[in-house]
Amino acid sequence: MTLSSTKPRPLIAGNWKMNGLAAALDEARAVVADLEIQPAAARVAIFPPATLLSRLSEAVGGSAVLTGAQDCHGKPNGAHTGDISAGMIADAGGSLVICGHSERRTDHGESSEQVARKAEAAIAAGLEPIVCVGETLETREAGDAVAFVVAQVRESLPPSVAGKAFCVAYEPLWAIGTGRTASVDNIIEMHAAIRAELAAIFGEQGKAVPILYGGSVKPENAGEILAAAEVGGALVGGASLKAVDFLAIIRAV
Ligand code: 13P
Repeated sequence: MTLSSTKPRPLIAGNWKMNGLAAALDEARAVVADLEIQPAAARVAIFPPATLLSRLSEAVGGSAVLTGAQDCHGKPNGAHTGDISAGMIADAGGSLVICGHSERRTDHGESSEQVARKAEAAIAAGLEPIVCVGETLETREAGDAVAFVVAQVRESLPPSVAGKAFCVAYEPLWAIGTGRTASVDNIIEMHAAIRAELAAIFGEQGKAVPILYGGSVKPENAGEILAAAEVGGALVGGASLKAVDFLAIIRAV
C-alpha cells in the first residue's frame, strides 16, 4: 500500500482565538479584496471568536473566504450555558469548526473522547471539522511524541467522519504562540505518522485527508513548511490577525 496522498487543495486556516472586536472585520475584508484581485491556490478560512462569526460570514459572504468556529458542543442543543452547537455555527454562516484545539484541551480539560463527540456533532450538522492533535514539550523530550499524537488521532476521530470532509491539524503545544516552530524534519516525521494512521483507519480517503501544521506559522517560514511532505495546509494563530501577514501565508502555497 502506498501512502503517498493525492493532494487536495491546501487549506490555510486563520484561528483568531480570543481576539477581535467589530473593527477586525476590516482585516477579513482586506483578505477578500486581495483574493478577488488574485485568487488563491489554497482554500482559505477564518475562525473568529463566536461573537463575530455571523458578522464575519456576512462580511465575506459570496467570496472565496470560508468561515468557521473555534469549538462546538458535542450535543445539538440543551442546558449547556455558554456553549454553542454545530447547528448554531452553520446557522451563523460557518462551514467549518475546529475541534480539540490544545487550548481547549488544556484550559477546559477536553479529552479525545469529547473531541470525537464534537467532531461527530460537526459532521451531523454538515460542518467540516478540523481535529487538532499535538504533544507537549515534556512528551517530545521523553521521546513519546509520535506515539502520543497517533493515539490522539485514533481517539479524536469518530467513525462518522468516514466519507465526509474533515482535516487533522498537528499543532505541537511548544510551538504555539512561542515563536518556536517545529523543524521541517519534525513536521515531516509527524505528518507521515499521522498519514499512516489515517490510511490505516480510513483506507483511500485517509491518504488524501488534509493534515495541517500549526504553531508559529509566519510569512517567513510558511513556504518551507507548506512545501514539506504531507503538509496539506496551515492553522495560523497570531499571524492570521493582520491581513497582510495572513495573505503572505496564503500566497506561500
Ligand atoms: P500561533 O500561530 O499563534 O502559534 O497559533 C497556532 C495555533 O494554535 C493555531 O490554532
